[in-house]
Amino acid sequence: MDNKQKKYYLWILGCQMNIADAERIRTILNSINYLETNIEKDADVIITIACSVKQSGIDRIFGKSKNWKKRKNLITILTGCVVKEDKPKMEKIFNHLINIHEINKLPRLLNIESDKISPSRDYLEILPQYSDKIKAYVPISNGCNNFCTYCVVPNTRGREKSRSSENILKECKELIKNGYKEITLLGQNVNSYGLDLKNDLSFPELLQKVNDLEGSFWLRFSTSHPKDMSDELIEVIANNKNICNYIHLPVQSGNNDVLKKMNRNYTKEHYLELINKLKNKINPLFISTDIIVGFPGETKKQFKDSIKLFKKVKFDMAYISQYSPRQGTGSFKLEDNISNKEKKKRKFKLDKILKKDALKNNKKIISKTLKILVDRHKNEYYYGKSETYRDVRFKSNKNLLGQFVKIKILKSTTFSLEGEIKKG
Ligand code: SAM
Ligand code: SF4
Ligand code: F3S
Repeated sequence: MDNKQKKYYLWILGCQMNIADAERIRTILNSINYLETNIEKDADVIITIACSVKQSGIDRIFGKSKNWKKRKNLITILTGCVVKEDKPKMEKIFNHLINIHEINKLPRLLNIESDKISPSRDYLEILPQYSDKIKAYVPISNGCNNFCTYCVVPNTRGREKSRSSENILKECKELIKNGYKEITLLGQNVNSYGLDLKNDLSFPELLQKVNDLEGSFWLRFSTSHPKDMSDELIEVIANNKNICNYIHLPVQSGNNDVLKKMNRNYTKEHYLELINKLKNKINPLFISTDIIVGFPGETKKQFKDSIKLFKKVKFDMAYISQYSPRQGTGSFKLEDNISNKEKKKRKFKLDKILKKDALKNNKKIISKTLKILVDRHKNEYYYGKSETYRDVRFKSNKNLLGQFVKIKILKSTTFSLEGEIKKG
């Protein structure tokens, strides 16, 4: 009999939700005495947690999996966000495909009998083995009901399903008790949290309750859909000290006709009104967004509206994506008629505005003092993020990992700041 402890390797693609999913997979595999390895070639089992938002994510899987075929006895498992249309090809590469809701079946796939994880349990309620000791992700819902026409998520993760607030609060309380200093609540649209539950909290109420937990910690959340952002939520962010002055508000396009074709259910005027309300109530505020360039039929004139919106808002950060047609989505039937060259050009133009604004915004902070949560140490520098999500580095001889420190900012680049510990 082979008594060697089996090792598994997690390949996590995509967003924070996949990181949170990996933390639950880890709990299951550790419970059957499998050991995690960071070295792929040492693994007996490779678990890929896929992202299907763009074709490039899927191509990466096809590319990497070529090496796996040569390895005898290797078990490969695919989970995460996979679209139905990709499954036949994936079945040729992987030994097993498993829905993310069914990860409690992993022991059985590996021929191990285990009763440690209840088969009927909602997978988000599996106690995670967190990837970090300072910051933690807490999913509050899974799936999405919005069906933006470019997006695979409602297909890969299904309809929105919220976790009970009792369960979320219990997890947050435990994290704070265990010394965690930052909690990020996750959902595809946190603003619609709880609508599928009877007699539970709304998102602003949940945020308030987490804020009110005893302890010294920061609270962030992602993602807010502009169509569902309420004044009540803005008030809760503005009035509570633990909730960070940071908002990620994906706009996707600055043109109303394109927004309509994307099925986003808001106008650029509504988006700008939200930004104004946020800026008026919360100061300082760090604003980031997601935007897609080259959506089918997006004319040069329509794209100019995205440029105008960028110039108006002056984002601190933006995740700019070239449109990628995805099977099974509403826009897949529309002709992908903007060339790659043109998509690249549009992305470059928005990137240029972003960089100019981000640098300007960062320069305004020079000589100010920011509170930083220190989360990394490399060579002579400590690194961390400010409440307003800015990357900051500084030098120190003391071990400051996991602590809040006040840093006087001396230098800035486009997306980062450097300073020294504030004296006195
Ligand atoms: N729920 C979030 C929201 O409502 O904005 C976004 C989640 S989505 C998984 C992450 C980002 O990927 C989107 O905001 C969008 O900018 C980008 N994205 C999604 N589908 C895309 C596609 N087909 N092509 C290019 N970018 C895409
Ligand atoms: Fe995708 Fe839209 Fe849902 Fe976000 S809100 S996950 S973009 S369908
Ligand atoms: Fe996230 Fe990609 Fe799924 S962005 S929700 S992992 S399709």
